[in-house]
Amino acid sequence: MAWSLRTLPTLSEDQFLQWGKLLEERTGIQLVFQQKAWLESQIYARLRDMGYSDYDSYYLFVAEESIDSKLEWARLVDRIAVKETSFFRHRESIEYVRNYLQQKINNQSLHDSFDVWSLGCATGEEAYSLAMVVNDCFELAAINPYYGITALDISPSALAAGRKARYSKRRVEQVKLDEVKRYLQVCADGSFEVVSKLRDRVCFTQSNIINARQLPQVQVDVIFCQNLLVYFRRWLRRDVLNALVERLKPGGLLIVGLGEVMDWEHPDMQRTNEDQVQAYIRQR
Ligand SMILES: C[S@@+](CC[C@H](N)C(=O)[O-])C[C@H]1O[C@@H](n2cnc3c(N)ncnc32)[C@H](O)[C@@H]1O
Repeated sequence: MAWSLRTLPTLSEDQFLQWGKLLEERTGIQLVFQQKAWLESQIYARLRDMGYSDYDSYYLFVAEESIDSKLEWARLVDRIAVKETSFFRHRESIEYVRNYLQQKINNQSLHDSFDVWSLGCATGEEAYSLAMVVNDCFELAAINPYYGITALDISPSALAAGRKARYSKRRVEQVKLDEVKRYLQVCADGSFEVVSKLRDRVCFTQSNIINARQLPQVQVDVIFCQNLLVYFRRWLRRDVLNALVERLKPGGLLIVGLGEVMDWEHPDMQRTNEDQVQAYIRQR
């Protein structure tokens, strides 16, 4: 019988826990039991493609430390990670970055470069939205300093889509008309491509945020991290944020998703007074 016609074998409760543990240890992503049927189908699709006949033998393979196992693990995580995103998904947060930069320009307190990280960038819409507002500010001020957006994600397919920078009409619905005119060009197939002056500023890199202490030893102006920490346990969210503080310049801005982190405080970070944006400024 062809594989596709076989019934999906059931992942037992113990197997679900075993897979969930491995996923959480390696990515921070925590699954809930309601996701069992969905996880089953994602794992099954990969094990079938790899020629395995049961969950346990495929588990033993991906749990190994070999290069082949690591490659296969990356493919599996690619299927499991939720990559939902959109341009200006939370416009208030992106506009907050615009105001923050505008103030730096007005006060002439810009450093040599303006560096932004988009963490858990998915298919790139968030990074390009940030690039749009940063570019707006510099064009308005008629200055041309170095700026760059580093977009990090664990998912190779999401990063590949980000580098391609082509989005369907439906995916650009949240971009205002004047932004579309300035930053997107219509392709022959009706999709929209981000213009090269923004594409050149965004660098997509594969990285696992739970190893935040291993991120490049640089300090940046803005760290933008939304709809990622929400998949992690509370202690891990705090741990990642503590590590990110070290990567901010003094005076740097950290923005997380509203309500994603409720119980985090850091001696160097001050929460801003904004109600609709969860933002923190590094004090020293
Ligand atoms: C729901 S999307 C959020 C995208 C975007 N930040 C937004 O708010 O629209 C979450 C992204 O986090 C990525 N992700 C999950 N675990 C990760 C990890 N440990 N390290 C880096 N990226 C991760 C996923 O691949 C996915 O693209």
